[in-house]
Amino acid sequence: MLDIAEAEPASGEVITLTDVRKTYRSGSIEFEALRGVSLSIEQGEYVAIMGPSGSGKSTLMNILGCLDVPTAGSYLLAGDDVSEMDEIDLAQVRNRRIGFVFQQFNLLPSLPAWRNVELPLTYAHVPRDVRKAKSVAALEKVGLGDRIGNRPGEMSGGQQQRVAVARALVSSPALILADEPTGNLDSTATEDVLALFDELHQQGRTIVLITHEAEVADRAGRVVRVRDGQIHSDRITA
Ligand SMILES: Nc1ncnc2c1ncn2[C@@H]1O[C@H](COP(=O)(O)OP(=O)(O)OP(=O)(O)O)[C@@H](O)[C@H]1O
Ligand SMILES: [Mg+2]
Repeated sequence: MLDIAEAEPASGEVITLTDVRKTYRSGSIEFEALRGVSLSIEQGEYVAIMGPSGSGKSTLMNILGCLDVPTAGSYLLAGDDVSEMDEIDLAQVRNRRIGFVFQQFNLLPSLPAWRNVELPLTYAHVPRDVRKAKSVAALEKVGLGDRIGNRPGEMSGGQQQRVAVARALVSSPALILADEPTGNLDSTATEDVLALFDELHQQGRTIVLITHEAEVADRAGRVVRVRDGQIHSDRITA
């Protein structure tokens, strides 16, 4: 149980979107940001989502991450229909099934690395000693075993993002969702983080990443391009 390096043994589809639509309404004005998106992602795939500004990437990401629900269509996450869930159930799905990595790291500055990493386990009411063991193991996995007591401000950008990746891994989620994870990193730190994603992919993790950068997308085995709220192309690259 403590070996967080172990990939999920389950196989099959992690994500199944069927004709997903998202309409934003402000006053009497409606805008359809997603116009019928169908997408299946299998356990163990590494997928990059690309597309021009305003094409609907963040809208799609918010739905995949259970931060928002579709206006129409269905979303199965690891077999569970999340399109009709209420806020409370969605929060639980986010916490247990999805590991998030954001462009701005989103670490709590006052907490040492291991306390940041254990947060998803705290919300899931995992006992204290198990939390610490798992968060230290996750930090070792991302190469920061010697930094567990450092606060974010005492680490480089690349190290902070690796702490965020450790936090995303610690609950062994079905899905790792990353929104421009290298957007704030220089080329060396970008390479470190991408190498880490490569390793997680090799271990069978399912990763979906949004990026503007071709060099980042090139690392994924599949590139999905979004345009005007629809999937414009979907190709296997590796
Ligand atoms: N809350 C909202 N209310 C109304 N319209 C919205 C809202 N959020 C997004 N939109 C619109 O939906 C469309 C898609 O937005 P989205 O943020 O998904 O694009 P994106 O592909 O992530 O763009 P970027 O690369 O600039 O981040 C845009 O036209 C945007 O203006
Ligand atoms: Mg966006």
